[in-house]
Amino acid sequence: MKILVTGGGGFFGSNLILSLKSLGYEITVIDSFLSGNIKNLEHFKGEIINEDISNLDLNKKFVSQHFDVIIHLASITDTTFSDDHEMLRMNVDGFKNVLNFAKVKGAKLVYASSAGTYGRGKIPMQEDQTPEPLNAYALSKKMMDDLAKKEIENKNRIIVGLRYFNVYGPGEEYKGKSASMIYQLFQQMKAGKNPRIFKEGEQKRDFIYVKDLNEANLKGIKSEKSCIVNVGTGTATSFNRIIKILNHNLGLNLKCEYFDNPYDFCQDETRADTFMAEDCLGFKAKYNIEEGVEDYCSSLLKK
Ligand SMILES: NC(=O)c1ccc[n+]([C@@H]2O[C@H](COP(=O)([O-])OP(=O)(O)OC[C@H]3O[C@@H](n4cnc5c(N)ncnc54)[C@H](O)[C@@H]3O)[C@@H](O)[C@H]2O)c1
Repeated sequence: MKILVTGGGGFFGSNLILSLKSLGYEITVIDSFLSGNIKNLEHFKGEIINEDISNLDLNKKFVSQHFDVIIHLASITDTTFSDDHEMLRMNVDGFKNVLNFAKVKGAKLVYASSAGTYGRGKIPMQEDQTPEPLNAYALSKKMMDDLAKKEIENKNRIIVGLRYFNVYGPGEEYKGKSASMIYQLFQQMKAGKNPRIFKEGEQKRDFIYVKDLNEANLKGIKSEKSCIVNVGTGTATSFNRIIKILNHNLGLNLKCEYFDNPYDFCQDETRADTFMAEDCLGFKAKYNIEEGVEDYCSSLLKK
């Protein structure tokens, strides 16, 4: 099976392509290396195309190449990116381009959406509740979901949208300030500094381990029906609790330093309703927060 992965040089992409390769899939990667890094792909032996998906004529580029599946991950992922217009242009035009290319090639499309689309909506977050995007990043993902829904209504091809919650795990170090809070706090604490979080540390996130994402994508690749579903664990953990878990794994007892949140678009809590992912895709996260953070810490400590 031939798979095109956009954004394959990024955090999820680089984890996913190694897992797909080990299962015998033939992979081609497109990445502009905006936030990803070629070092993420040092063990990958397939074709890497360094191009911007929002400007590229995919039909011309791959005129004689066939793909069974396209996994679309390429996106501006820095939610604090200052140019809203460029955020929307890049993310939405890139998606339109991929959507059209998948149609021309008759390929299944599995794409990355986000829990950001729910904003401060009701908890647990359900796929059919009204989106409340709080920033341009979340709006771009909502616009992508709207475009996908229109295509899904036509029922003539398979599109799987995965609304990822808060992902952490190996491979995110190149994301800098956009890397997960688990990564940022680990680095502060390992350096012996008190972990710094927004007051009062009781904001909660549905943190999901990147190894679970590989499974969600595999389910997407094999899906025989279209859907847009949450990819979370169904459990939310506070930042105060994350610090306790990190202290435990690092053998430390560091106290939190709290500071005012400068952003007005933060969600107080994210928590996925996981029913549809299980029902439509047969996906259920395997790692709870303690298991995921332990696995992640042991890989970070080996570096
Ligand atoms: N990390 C999370 O917690 C999270 C949560 C929800 C959704 N998502 C979505 O999942 C996907 C993967 O996220 P990630 O954490 O791996 O981010 P990432 O920044 O590590 O990866 C995104 C990749 O896309 C590439 N890219 C960006 N714009 C591009 C363009 N126009 N053309 C080609 N390549 C381009 C980047 O260089 C990068 O390698 C993204 O679509 C993101 O929005 C991530």
